[in-house]
Amino acid sequence: MIRARVIGAGACLPSNIVTNDDLAKKMDTSDEWIQGRTGIKQRYIALPGEKTSDLALGAARAALADAGIDAGELDMIICATTTPDESFPATATVVQARLGMTKGAAFDVQAVCSGFIYGMSIADSLIRTGAARTILLIGAETMSRLLDWEDRTTCVLFGDGAGAVVLQAHMGTGTNADQGILNTRLFSDGRLHDMLYADGGVSSTQGAGKLRMQGKEVFKHAVTNIAAAIVASAEAANIPLDQIDWFVPHQANQRILDGTAKKLGIDPAKVVSTLAVHGNTSAASVPLALVTAIQDGRIKRGDLVLLEAMGGGFTWGAALLRW
Ligand code: UT7
Repeated sequence: MIRARVIGAGACLPSNIVTNDDLAKKMDTSDEWIQGRTGIKQRYIALPGEKTSDLALGAARAALADAGIDAGELDMIICATTTPDESFPATATVVQARLGMTKGAAFDVQAVCSGFIYGMSIADSLIRTGAARTILLIGAETMSRLLDWEDRTTCVLFGDGAGAVVLQAHMGTGTNADQGILNTRLFSDGRLHDMLYADGGVSSTQGAGKLRMQGKEVFKHAVTNIAAAIVASAEAANIPLDQIDWFVPHQANQRILDGTAKKLGIDPAKVVSTLAVHGNTSAASVPLALVTAIQDGRIKRGDLVLLEAMGGGFTWGAALLRW
């Protein structure tokens, strides 16, 4: 059985760090409120002119270098983003050109904060069916461009960045002992649109709009939906939760991470959190957290790793991998 195995991972962050105290100088907020309610201490904000494709390219190059392969070996590039450089073409094609890749295909995936999980599910399917052998999957965002900086209830939460993985076909036995993606589970419920959305778009306002969120409502759904996605993925592989080595969640709020771990009886020490440094980077948050835990030596070959996310739509999902 063919499995999609991660053979390299990399990240890219803007050079510009904005702390909670920096924000408190510009608006009615405080480090105490932001840290206490979310766990966020700082976030990276792209400099003027710095685009999503710049961050995506940085992460792509780092992932390719980590995999030890050249862009010419890629069959496909998938970029998960809600903040593309332009309405079209896809940011993935901008990365394709800048990597000097002249074959294959490149396209974007739009599932907001769940985009990396959706992209992983698509890449897994393409690799397992033999349609592609090697895929670069990127999560990249400049969420700072989509924020209403007059709305303190949302603008303090988000940041910019990108993370990427290279997935490659690998022959497995079809058991849970195989390295690679064991399964993915995707969900959405479009009825919950009004809880988290951008109030603009090409066909409605001819602009990008600004992010709007009913934070308390999103919070309640987040714990329930994320817990359900984790259970669905673990059950599909018939793996008890306590056998999973690392949980790499979407980084929206430390209280969501803690609440989900508590609900499922997961040891909080197994939950990777980068909220304090990255804030919420939407589709980039899972790969940024993943790269952090790989580079600091927590995630090792052979470990069972469960990725999960939830975002606007609502969309949510999980992916279970043997590293
Ligand atoms: O990535 C997609 C998924 N997103 C999420 O999962 C986000 C989910 N939601 C959350 O993380 C939380 O709901 C927030 C962090 C957004 C807000 O936390 P909360 O505990 O739900 O706070 P709240 O909205 O109920 O606000 C509490 C108080 C309010 O004041 P009053 O009405 O009690 O006087 C707000 O006006 O905090 C006030 N407040 C702030 N104060 C200082 C709201 N934002 C700020 C701020 N600084 N930035």
